[in-house]
Amino acid sequence: MKPTTVTHLRQWKQEQRKFATLTAYDASFAKLFEEQGIKLMLVGDSLGMTLQGHDSTLPVTVADIAYHTRAVRRGAPACLLLADLPFMAYATPEQTFANAAEVMRAGANMVKIEGGSWLCETVKMLTERAVPVCGHLGLTPQSVNLFGGYKVQGRDELAAKQLMEDAKNLEFAGIQLLVLECVPTELARNITEALSIPVIGIGAGNGTDGQILVMHDAFGITGGHTPKFAKNFLAQSGDLRSAVQHYIQEVEQGIYPAAEHSFN
Ligand code: KIV
Repeated sequence: MKPTTVTHLRQWKQEQRKFATLTAYDASFAKLFEEQGIKLMLVGDSLGMTLQGHDSTLPVTVADIAYHTRAVRRGAPACLLLADLPFMAYATPEQTFANAAEVMRAGANMVKIEGGSWLCETVKMLTERAVPVCGHLGLTPQSVNLFGGYKVQGRDELAAKQLMEDAKNLEFAGIQLLVLECVPTELARNITEALSIPVIGIGAGNGTDGQILVMHDAFGITGGHTPKFAKNFLAQSGDLRSAVQHYIQEVEQGIYPAAEHSFN
């Protein structure tokens, strides 16, 4: 299988071809996802909640991310693999370089960092040193204590304006991809149209170039509170492989996310 690169994603954006992506944390699921046609995977720090049972992503370490990145890379050798830099792993330039190097050596193609314009210098430093960066705006779970919970972001005019500005500044600084989490559909669509890089949404409506789901949300494994944007594709499909195929088809055809999975 030919490796997926960021060039493919840019081409899909130009062709207005929507794409589906998933988080992955181990070799077996990564292999299954790749075989069913998932081209981009994320080793997210959501593993702190989905795998480790914490109530936030904050306890996750760079060593955790590197361990799971190695496993996913072994299972899915051709996917474009994103790995999160976890909480406080990009607080200083020295930490940023060392931690980015660790996850890139583990098999990632790109690192993802959470935050707005204040990260432009970090993005520039990483990009100049051959580490591609994915931005993450909106509900950034590493900031849960600042937000006072997992809340939709960008709802008022000022916050929406700020998010748009952050997205443009990060693109100018060099990010190659942007994840928008839990923002109103119209704002996410406007940001997607304003940027030339691909934008991937989660709880951001159907106007983004791609969609990402935490795999546990796509299969109805998530215990306790299920996010509004989650959809259990396993329930309608009966087995994992067809669940992944349904997810891909629904994203490509603009069926998922529907209004009921989105915020206005
Ligand atoms: O950690 C993660 O899984 C993520 C996704 C929700 C985008 O950041």
